[in-house]
Amino acid sequence: MAWPYSIVVASQKGGVGKTSVAVNLATVISSAGYKTLLVDADTVNPSVGIHLGVEGRGKGCAELLDSRTRLRDVTVHHGDSGLAVVPGTMSMSRQAHSAKGMGRATNEIMNQGYDFVVFDTSPGSTLIDSISRVNYGLIVMSPDMPSFASSIRLDAEFGMMKVPHGLVVNRIRGRRYELGVHDIEHEYGKKVLGALKDDDAVPMSIANHTPACIAHRNSHFSRGIRSVAAACVANSGRSSDAIGAPQNNVSLIKRLLGRER
Ligand SMILES: Nc1ncnc2c1ncn2[C@@H]1O[C@H](COP(=O)(O)OP(=O)(O)O)[C@@H](O)[C@H]1O
Ligand SMILES: [Mg+2]
Repeated sequence: MAWPYSIVVASQKGGVGKTSVAVNLATVISSAGYKTLLVDADTVNPSVGIHLGVEGRGKGCAELLDSRTRLRDVTVHHGDSGLAVVPGTMSMSRQAHSAKGMGRATNEIMNQGYDFVVFDTSPGSTLIDSISRVNYGLIVMSPDMPSFASSIRLDAEFGMMKVPHGLVVNRIRGRRYELGVHDIEHEYGKKVLGALKDDDAVPMSIANHTPACIAHRNSHFSRGIRSVAAACVANSGRSSDAIGAPQNNVSLIKRLLGRER
């Protein structure tokens, strides 16, 4: 059985949109026909259940880390997308305990025949290095200096762990005082993987418990998420055709001119 391609959504700061990105990314990939599991590994402020309107059966990720709870006992399904979800639960246990549990739990998670596993995480990088077999780190930041500075630190951590990773700038409002994507790319020295706008579709969809990529398919945010999902799926070596990512005009023109396939 092939291992799933696992994506860890991370940031040093809270409130930048990790859960919004993780939920919508996993939903888009699942809706494209890939067997996908979304794990809410945020044991400080678990909120995947709130975003998706799925309720755990009294147990979730913390129990998976702390005890002999099996994955099948904590996995629920999201109706609209078929996405499998391990809802988050809060854990008061010491970090070392959770880190050990995380290693064991992710070994089980990786053996279930999923094509993709997406981990939402707590702010900071506490448990990331104990998630075994991370294929890709998605660092989420807001377009301001403190968030950028902390993202650079996380970028270095993924680099040290030799985990390929990319930056997603979320909640772009186009204000003069914001860090522009070009400035970020210039300072970062690499292209960002995604640029997502501040979009009412996100809080509206949380209020309605249906991910923006389903409830507001053509919103700026959803189009941006489909681009990020297509990039992640392509990085995994699988086809991203079914994602329906918005066409980049330059590559569309090149393709129409027969210069690029
Ligand atoms: N692109 C966006 N546009 C508008 N609001 C957003 C966007 N991304 C996140 N939010 C809002 O920001 C808040 C925090 O988002 P969340 O995804 O829970 O962040 P985190 O998981 O990093 O703490 C939520 O209320 C959400 O509605
Ligand atoms: Mg969150």
